[in-house]
Amino acid sequence: MKRVLILGGTGDAAKLAARVATIPGIEAIASLAGRTRQPSVPAGNVRIGGFGGVAGLVSYLREMSIDFVIDATHPFASQISFNAAAATAEVAIPRLLFNRPAWEKVNGDRWIEVDDIAAAATALSNQAQRVFLTVGRQELSAFAELESIWFLMRVIDPPSPDTLIPQGLVLCDRGPFALDNEREILIQHKIDTIVSKNSGGDATYAKIIAARELGVKVVMVKRPPTPPGEQVSNIEDAIAWLQDNL
Ligand SMILES: NC(=O)c1ccc[n+]([C@@H]2O[C@H](COP(=O)([O-])OP(=O)(O)OC[C@H]3O[C@@H](n4cnc5c(N)ncnc54)[C@H](OP(=O)(O)O)[C@@H]3O)[C@@H](O)[C@H]2O)c1
Repeated sequence: MKRVLILGGTGDAAKLAARVATIPGIEAIASLAGRTRQPSVPAGNVRIGGFGGVAGLVSYLREMSIDFVIDATHPFASQISFNAAAATAEVAIPRLLFNRPAWEKVNGDRWIEVDDIAAAATALSNQAQRVFLTVGRQELSAFAELESIWFLMRVIDPPSPDTLIPQGLVLCDRGPFALDNEREILIQHKIDTIVSKNSGGDATYAKIIAARELGVKVVMVKRPPTPPGEQVSNIEDAIAWLQDNL
């Protein structure tokens, strides 16, 4: 029996864990960081919480006799991806990065592409009044000083009361989001600009389509770099990699 650790926190990781569970001779353990109060827990074996940096992950891989790691974390969860690269190198086991394709700008999109969240905040000043902020709870404080802008902040869990957040309205909801829903939000709140990470995938793409339809600008945060190594962009290729390595 071989054992694969799937680093998760994404819908793709949950789908991958469900697929791996059907392969004879392989046991999958899915790992979540434990950020959300009621996570969508993948089927099968699941562990929740950080490992304690690279050293903690190295110990975990050894203690649990992990044979392979598939890093299927969110494209913006950069720390865990680099930790996984360092830890698997130290333990000398194969690692695969599941990296879903980024969204590409198409005709009609009014994107302002920026390198990071701080640059997104800078890009808003002087050119936005009512902003739909969809970058997650952990990034809200980067926009708190933009006092002349009203924000609709969509998050899974509400920010803690001691977090500095911008002025506006917090909307707690979890994807996938339908196009009608996104169109309605942009119209109802008279949104002129969306801030989005370039997450890729279908679950949160409808807001980008709605923005295109309504001529709303999108400040699009580019992805952070990924560690070197093997990458796939779909579940079938991840399964094939695992079977090749068995
Ligand atoms: N960043 C986003 O925009 C985003 C969006 C949707 C979902 N997520 C998911 O939310 C989780 C946290 O994201 P993040 O951006 O805060 O991550 P991060 O900055 O890359 O990681 C910070 C720390 O969180 C722990 N961690 C992260 N992912 C983990 C996992 N799958 N299993 C166990 N520990 C994990 C690790 O702690 P230790 O050092 O203690 O091991 C890591 O050093 C990720 O699993 C990611 O897939 C993130």
